[in-house]
Amino acid sequence: MGPAPLPLEGKGPLSLLITDIGTLVTNDPALGSGPLGVVPDAAVVVEGSRIAWVGPAAAAPAADERFDAKHRAMLPGFVDSHAHLVFAGDRTAEFNARMSGQAYTAGGIRTTVAATRAATDAELDANLVRFLREALHQGTTTVECKSGYGLTVADEARALRIAASHTPETTYLGAHVVAPEFADDPAGYVDLVTGEMLDACAPHARWVDVFCERGAFDGDQARAILTAGAERGLIPRVHANQLSYGPGVQLAVELGAASADHCTHLTDEDVAALAGSATVATLLPGAEFSTRAEYPNARRLLDAGATVALSTDCNPGSSFTSSMAFCIAVAVREMGMTPDEAVHAATAGGARALRRTDVGVITPGARADLLLLEAPSHVHLAYRPGVPLTAAVWRAGAREF
Ligand code: NIG
Ligand code: FE
Repeated sequence: MGPAPLPLEGKGPLSLLITDIGTLVTNDPALGSGPLGVVPDAAVVVEGSRIAWVGPAAAAPAADERFDAKHRAMLPGFVDSHAHLVFAGDRTAEFNARMSGQAYTAGGIRTTVAATRAATDAELDANLVRFLREALHQGTTTVECKSGYGLTVADEARALRIAASHTPETTYLGAHVVAPEFADDPAGYVDLVTGEMLDACAPHARWVDVFCERGAFDGDQARAILTAGAERGLIPRVHANQLSYGPGVQLAVELGAASADHCTHLTDEDVAALAGSATVATLLPGAEFSTRAEYPNARRLLDAGATVALSTDCNPGSSFTSSMAFCIAVAVREMGMTPDEAVHAATAGGARALRRTDVGVITPGARADLLLLEAPSHVHLAYRPGVPLTAAVWRAGAREF
């Protein structure tokens, strides 16, 4: 036998030094000051799809390529942990009516269900891609995507199949509302959602969700749906306490859900349950903005010790925005959050809500998801509402904007 072959020679993946970052938000307190782990005058080295080095620019190692951040601010790409992006049509007329005084109800979902069922796979895919690109250009590098506008076995499964071809964070929401065909037989619809529909959807989903609300699913139905999903390996998350007080938050905590989303109407017991659990309170200010409703009280949750995430809830009915920066600005102005807390919630908080440790943070080994702002500080996200502040975006090390 001859000598063993030499290992293939070659350089590792290309490395990129991003230097002269004025303010770097790492979300790693071991790397910088405060909960945001802020490093002034910083540099980041990216190797392939991962962060290889983070620290003061003066101490940065050499790399194959160099990008001058010109003293602007950088933070992790936003983690939007709650969105409904597989749909067709829009609901302009409903929004117009609401802004003329009509109330928002869960029933409007059925309008989008009809349009979505009528759309081809290619149309749904193209819509989804459009919204994902729209989000990416605003700095969002991780997006969760729910089904819920099909409400038949075939339509829910195709929504998840389409979503799963673009993101691993897919959520089975067959229990968005009772399908129109089951208007007189909600129990029959719950049987479908926990049976044949779950069988068809589970292979394409990571999470199971239910809209636990008057006009949608009550506590017992929600429990049955989440438990059935969990038995198939899907992890629960819950649309909870959005339009009224109810059992959603307590159920989410009891079942060990990754997040309870909306959290607009909370009792002291609900707040205490969230604070004493690993369930993230995901707040969705776009929904209250677009339905002219009262905002959730983020201050109350944070002061109690709950983990808070901010997300867009992007959907054609209650919150047709893909802008995490908008959510940050509203959360700061209307929900009692500091700019630092809101930025943390939109990045590290979203990662927690998706149980991800590789995103929402700029630390060696993490995925290189980076947002460079056309601003000297991340505080500008709240200070300059409505202004496009994206200077550059990298996702998994690739420059996207
Ligand atoms: O999160 N709350 C339930 N689902 C969406 C609304 C969907 C719709 O109105 O189409 C939400 O707000
Ligand atoms: Fe939602």
